Amino acid sequence: MNYIEVQNLVKSFKEKGRAITAVDNISFSVKKGEIFGLLGPNGAGKSTTINILTGLLEKDSGTIKVLGFEPEKNWEYVKNNSNVATAYSWLSDVLTIRQNLRVYAKLYGVKNCEHKINELLEMFELKNVADRKIIRLSSGENTRAVLCKGLINSPKVLFLDECTVGLDPDIADKTRGIIKDYQKKNDCTILFTSHYMYEVEELCDRIAFMSNGKIIRIDTSSNLKKLIKKHTVEIAVKKNIKLLREFLKTEGVDIVFEKDNSIVFEVTTEEDKMYKVISKIFHKGFMLSNLHVKGPTLDDIFIKIARQK
Ligand SMILES: Nc1ncnc2c1ncn2[C@@H]1O[C@H](COP(=O)(O)OP(=O)(O)OP(=O)(O)O)[C@@H](O)[C@H]1O
Ligand SMILES: [Mg+2]
Repeated sequence: MNYIEVQNLVKSFKEKGRAITAVDNISFSVKKGEIFGLLGPNGAGKSTTINILTGLLEKDSGTIKVLGFEPEKNWEYVKNNSNVATAYSWLSDVLTIRQNLRVYAKLYGVKNCEHKINELLEMFELKNVADRKIIRLSSGENTRAVLCKGLINSPKVLFLDECTVGLDPDIADKTRGIIKDYQKKNDCTILFTSHYMYEVEELCDRIAFMSNGKIIRIDTSSNLKKLIKKHTVEIAVKKNIKLLREFLKTEGVDIVFEKDNSIVFEVTTEEDKMYKVISKIFHKGFMLSNLHVKGPTLDDIFIKIARQK
């Protein structure tokens, strides 16, 4: 069953008499228990889409369903069973983390809320700052406080809009772990945006690429990476770097750069070309001191798709 459904969604803003189409007739659906990524350049329309799905903005046209219901018609049910955490915090600056969480627990009708709050503070390692006002938190602490708010009602559908901004690598890794654990234990459906490609790759089952308000492609990250049929090879030799360069030129690969005893080149993965070139290098007797092969990353795909106007 689809827990998030978006059909022909359109949203534009009026500014100085000019209409800005932020979301331009997009459709996608997210299955129960799926983590679905929305990727795209700044201004692509990701947050606008999430803001419509979470009731912050009104759509111009199209249909949306969360947990099988249109939020406008079943607001109470959708609100109580979904939640959102975004980098653009909505917590009250003058209240402490704990006080903020109490307010949200009340709003969402959470039972045994003190226990739930303590559990979340423990999970996100915020116990020692729980009674500090939001305004006095570091950005990473604030981000984690917002994530606690996002999980306060144990949501079935969770919207995460750049929810890991400002976290140090250790906490960011732990946070991804918490999100994955929570998703698994609760079979939670997540709509996720981030500009950190590695975390999108780690977390998301499928990804929709947005650009200029439109969805350009929806696929898994491994299928998306197949769009680039090139690998980068870094090879270092103990001697005869000039001979290696000459050899690579005759093989028709693209040399990216050469430094000291190593050469970095790009080679197509089609027709086993990469394996053939590497095996020839061995057969010719070059003495290698390093060999590193790198496939395309989601970053490469992002750049490729974002630049296709
Ligand atoms: N309230 C508003 N009034 C006018 N224009 C807006 C408003 N909100 C968003 N926009 C515009 O709509 C477009 C989409 O914005 P949105 O915030 O959805 O992008 P995004 O994909 O989330 O970008 P980012 O990666 O920077 O967060 C942008 O051009 C933005 O300037
Ligand atoms: Mg955004």
